[in-house]
Amino acid sequence: MDVMNSEEEMIVTPWEVRGKVDYERLIQEFGTQPLTEDLLKKIKKHVKELHPQLRRRLFFSHRDLDTILDLYEEGKKFILYTGRGPSGPVHVGHLVPWIFTKYLQESFKTRLYFQMTDDEKFVIEPNLQLSDTTGHAYDNALDLIALGFKPKNTFIIFDVKDIGLLYDIALEVAKRVTYSTARAAFGFQDSTNIGWIFWPAIQAVPCFIHAKLTGENVPSLIPAAIDQDPYWRITRDIAPKLGYYKPAQIHCRFVPGLGEGGKMSAREPDTCIFTTDTPEIIKKKIWNAFTGGRPTAREQKKLGGEPEMCTVYQYFLYLFEEDDGKVLELAKECSSGKAVCGNCKEKLTERATKFLLQHQKRRERAKDTVEDFFIEH
Ligand code: TYM
Repeated sequence: MDVMNSEEEMIVTPWEVRGKVDYERLIQEFGTQPLTEDLLKKIKKHVKELHPQLRRRLFFSHRDLDTILDLYEEGKKFILYTGRGPSGPVHVGHLVPWIFTKYLQESFKTRLYFQMTDDEKFVIEPNLQLSDTTGHAYDNALDLIALGFKPKNTFIIFDVKDIGLLYDIALEVAKRVTYSTARAAFGFQDSTNIGWIFWPAIQAVPCFIHAKLTGENVPSLIPAAIDQDPYWRITRDIAPKLGYYKPAQIHCRFVPGLGEGGKMSAREPDTCIFTTDTPEIIKKKIWNAFTGGRPTAREQKKLGGEPEMCTVYQYFLYLFEEDDGKVLELAKECSSGKAVCGNCKEKLTERATKFLLQHQKRRERAKDTVEDFFIEH
């Protein structure tokens, strides 16, 4: 399923991310736009302050975000759409686009449609039963709710449960996407099962669902990591044919795993911090993390560390240090050799544990409210 596989072995598809990700090259090859200073200024007109994920360019690319903002300035609302493929527990990498989505929702006072693709994960994962993925979908919804989303403007679509809501639009989409287009976008092979080949039509549907539910035809904006982009390429092509706006996107980079190279992925559970991990497990994973440090404290003092290679540093950058000045300080202390990896790991363990223990409490409480997020149809 390789959408791209170059001499450097960079592979970025919705189902697999491997190798060193070159984000500039992804912008070129996917045909997206960089998030420019001008666009940030335009966003700034509508928000209290730029979110750290924007200031740090963790969100780095987009499609039609400028159009969405122009329309918004003319009084046209938009909706937010994002989702999760419930193949197991949620990891902290998944939280990055969801935290950002909440910021957009609060800033622009929009509805969010959130899709739980329990059908997708069933068709693509050979070892998962339907009961596994539908179960994970409800469990993963607790993580979303724990971030503070409210049922009045957040609607969770559970594909298997809600297929009646999605099916007519999915058929309209599927009829207009040829096999050769889908194969080029997703790299389907002769051995790919036919459930998987049809499936991208279902991920397109929430871009357009607001019109069906409310009668209002408004554009959608999708915050997600860039691995999901192939879906939007096909959806954008057919949207005007169905009388809808082309969905817009804002793309983030991948939170790395705690090992050497690669994004955080549940396929490598030891290098992945799950939201349900205990303090002991969090500590163990962080203590085994790959860092930009030198083999000995003496060498570290002499040569300095390499924060850009360090997974521990990346976690402060993405999630666990709000203050830009302190992030810079961390990088400086590392590269000057002043900081040693043990101290950074200790600090990260403390921050991550505090965050996750609170998250776990809110997750428990979400069990009482999850049904308030269901869509009536
Ligand atoms: P899934 O479950 O693979 O990923 C859920 C969301 O998390 C993002 N993501 C990451 N972000 C930062 N760092 C990482 N290491 C990382 N790994 C994953 C993904 O880009 C995604 O935003 N088919 C989709 C579910 C889906 C969806 C959507 C996602 C349905 N509709 C609309 C985004 C937007 C999936 O399997 O996501």
